[in-house]
Amino acid sequence: MKSSVLCCIFSSIFLVDFVYSAVTLSAVLQDGQPIVTFSLGKQIVISCNATSDDKNAKIEVEWKKNDVNIDEVSSLKDRHRTTKKGSIHKLHIDDGREEDIDKYTCALDDDKESKEVDIQVFTKPVVKVQRSINTVELEVLKIRCTVNGKPPSNVTWYYSNETMADKEVTEIDDDRITFEKDEERGVENAVLVKSNIQMWDRGVYTCVGEPPFKHRLINDTCMVRVKDKYAALWPFLGIVAEVFVLCAIILIYEKKRNKTELEESDTDQSPDQKNTPDHNKDSNLRHRQ
Ligand SMILES: *[C@@H]1O[C@H](CO)[C@@H](O)[C@H](O)[C@H]1NC(C)=O
Ligand SMILES: *[C@@H]1O[C@H](CO)[C@@H](O)[C@H](O)[C@H]1NC(C)=O
Repeated sequence: MKSSVLCCIFSSIFLVDFVYSAVTLSAVLQDGQPIVTFSLGKQIVISCNATSDDKNAKIEVEWKKNDVNIDEVSSLKDRHRTTKKGSIHKLHIDDGREEDIDKYTCALDDDKESKEVDIQVFTKPVVKVQRSINTVELEVLKIRCTVNGKPPSNVTWYYSNETMADKEVTEIDDDRITFEKDEERGVENAVLVKSNIQMWDRGVYTCVGEPPFKHRLINDTCMVRVKDKYAALWPFLGIVAEVFVLCAIILIYEKKRNKTELEESDTDQSPDQKNTPDHNKDSNLRHRQ
């Protein structure tokens, strides 16, 4: 009982003493983080929340880009404005550019104390792979993950199939696998290369991007189908077989025809065959008879 009374006295003294400075400043979160992502050319809106116990308190905030007052940043000249609605203060930047990627600060503009929160601004992270790839047994499979957004996301790969859930793809687990860097975008492991493809390599390959500043993971998947290496050979073999059978039929037929004609000429009194010299002689002899 005594202690709770003491506590009340203490807290009221505390409140009276600091009534003017009881301002809470916080970033308005995106995906649970003090970050803002934007698309190039689109508007960037950075918000912070300044609340006070004193309903009548006039709270002003100051915006900074990389610790420089926003009004002194030449690249933002005529491209930004600030607004306030309730406890929410906003900095609007039109026509978002790469140079706008930076750390922004919402600072309490108050002589009595300084409070500030940092908000990281960067371009929307995106990873993309081809929807599906058809490859042939023993060939080399190459899947490129296109990573957009700055700073770029880190890339890892996962594999799954009908019998196996997502499992990270590593060079160590499978020595047929190597990763290549996307030099243009400066992204390590952006290309998955798997050589000596086997029938069981069929499955779903997922490119997982880990964007900077603790943004949530992003991913895209590619379905890979593997064809039997003889698959392309079967139609060819079929044609070969067909030709072979046709030739055989013609040969047999020809042989049979020759044979019957020979037999016929043996019995026939007026043969018109001139197939073999022997045969001719034969018939000539017969004619003379
Ligand atoms: C602003 O802060 C107050 C006090 O912390 C909170 O009650 C309110 O929900 C916040 N508003 C937003 C939009 O975050
Ligand atoms: C799934 O992948 C595993 C590991 O690569 C492989 O052993 C298995 O045969 C595959 N299953 C199917 C149905 O392809």
